[in-house]
Amino acid sequence: MTDPLTRWRAHADDAVLLDGFHALKHALRFGAEIPVAVTTDRAAALALAEELAGDVRDALDALLTQVSAETYASLVPRPHPTGVAALAVRPSREANLRTLARTPRSAPVVVLDNPRNLGNAGAVIRLAAGFGATGVVTTGTLDPWHPTVVRGGAGLHFATAVERLGVDELPAGPLFALDPEGEDIRGTKLPDAAVLAFGSERSGLSAELRARADHLLALPMRPQVSSYNLATSVAMTLYHWSATGGAPS
Ligand SMILES: C[S@@+](CC[C@H](N)C(=O)[O-])C[C@H]1O[C@@H](n2cnc3c(N)ncnc32)[C@H](O)[C@@H]1O
Repeated sequence: MTDPLTRWRAHADDAVLLDGFHALKHALRFGAEIPVAVTTDRAAALALAEELAGDVRDALDALLTQVSAETYASLVPRPHPTGVAALAVRPSREANLRTLARTPRSAPVVVLDNPRNLGNAGAVIRLAAGFGATGVVTTGTLDPWHPTVVRGGAGLHFATAVERLGVDELPAGPLFALDPEGEDIRGTKLPDAAVLAFGSERSGLSAELRARADHLLALPMRPQVSSYNLATSVAMTLYHWSATGGAPS
């Protein structure tokens, strides 16, 4: 087997950086292919696995190579408190598109229409993973696989299909667009086949997406408040879907 640095360099350009123990743990749980994983303290990382993630302890034992603190620092933009980092193979666009297109669907697809904030996108991917959503689709220029989004997603990009698409390429299914001017969401049961769309932090839903929407839904909010944060809006909507029948197991 080649040394971890050589393997790291061989994959660094097209792989996804998993920054920290928890990102690696999540990626392993959801079947990510991990060509290389390093730690500054193998014993500490395996002890953490025994304490918090016994299900992936043996996989980590087989994967993790100990490196010096200097080597680790040269591989990551900023050191993580757990001293763990790994590279994962990004799922192919074709595989994600197949997942997004598959019908009947057992859980909604979340659409972020031209999101601007990388942290919001990561938080939404984490939410989608938690609720078992089919995928997270972004429109516009933000790359949902940007390292900052992956960091915010805590390794959960591998638990849901994450892709960027045009509004004209969105998956089939009734499109529910969330907007403070819509009808109260509490009167609607969201179907598993739903496509749930949310507007940009700056300007809300685009005209193109509004034109495609089958329903406009509002989250309950006092009149003097203009809007909620994007990620919290996704959280409330997925919770509403789960609370009205579509629950994660
Ligand atoms: C920060 S808000 C956008 C605010 C933006 N300035 C605007 O003009 O709409 C981001 C997105 O969260 C969702 N959202 C926020 N508050 C909402 C509410 N009360 N009801 C439904 N959706 C909401 C919408 O999809 C909105 O486009």
